[in-house]
Amino acid sequence: MLQVHNLIAGYGPLTALNDVSLSLQAGARLGVFGHNGAGKTTLLRCIMGAVRPVSGRVEVDSNDTCAATVADNVRRGIAFVPQGHNVFPNLSVEQNLRIAGLLFDPSFVSQVYELFPVLSERRQQRAGSMSGGEQQMLALGMALMTRPKWLLLDEPSTGLAPVIVRNVMRRLVDINERMGVGLIVVEQNVPATLKVVQQVVILRSGQVAFAGSAAELAGNTDLWKWF
Ligand SMILES: Nc1ncnc2c1ncn2[C@@H]1O[C@H](COP(=O)(O)OP(=O)(O)O)[C@@H](O)[C@H]1O
Ligand SMILES: [Mg+2]
Repeated sequence: MLQVHNLIAGYGPLTALNDVSLSLQAGARLGVFGHNGAGKTTLLRCIMGAVRPVSGRVEVDSNDTCAATVADNVRRGIAFVPQGHNVFPNLSVEQNLRIAGLLFDPSFVSQVYELFPVLSERRQQRAGSMSGGEQQMLALGMALMTRPKWLLLDEPSTGLAPVIVRNVMRRLVDINERMGVGLIVVEQNVPATLKVVQQVVILRSGQVAFAGSAAELAGNTDLWKWF
């Protein structure tokens, strides 16, 4: 389970998260929406141990991840794909994957290739010469090399053409269903994300304005009222 308990966090005098709580079963798929500045990235950073909250905690399998280091959290099975294309542009696809898995099992690369045939075809290609969509696939593959139980994604569809967005979203479902990895997907593209997540949280000024099922939100014609 992943449980966020009454999280309050910010930067100096600024409060970015104000009493945020949520609860996810292992293998759940959550979408996190909200305007710019709503606190979405801060929530991911707290879960990852990259921002220390003022109060509250995040429990993953009874460890408080907010109080731990990022490195410890990665070892315990939390992976984070920050916004943008987080690959080493001058290294090959294969080198990127192996570096990401250095502290884990490098042979897992074969399973990543099974999930992403496009990466297998391009294993010797320089990562920086691939398209944005391919680099996003590589970033996902690199995160998987750390064998996560939870995968946190910060706006994975940013800058991608609609057809590529659908492809990335489908891969996320594959990762979830085939590997049992739980997903927390922060997104601006609400319609595309609602198709692949089960639960949704909408943040507004650092507070939870909506928490419920994706189906409930998708059926709501005035869902923007929570933004
Ligand atoms: N490193 C930082 N230093 C100071 N303020 C920050 C920093 N990162 C984010 N903020 C502020 O915290 C609030 C929440 O930001 P963020 O979590 O990035 O929101 P979102 O990801 O939803 O756009 C915003 O007001 C933002 O300006
Ligand atoms: Mg953000």
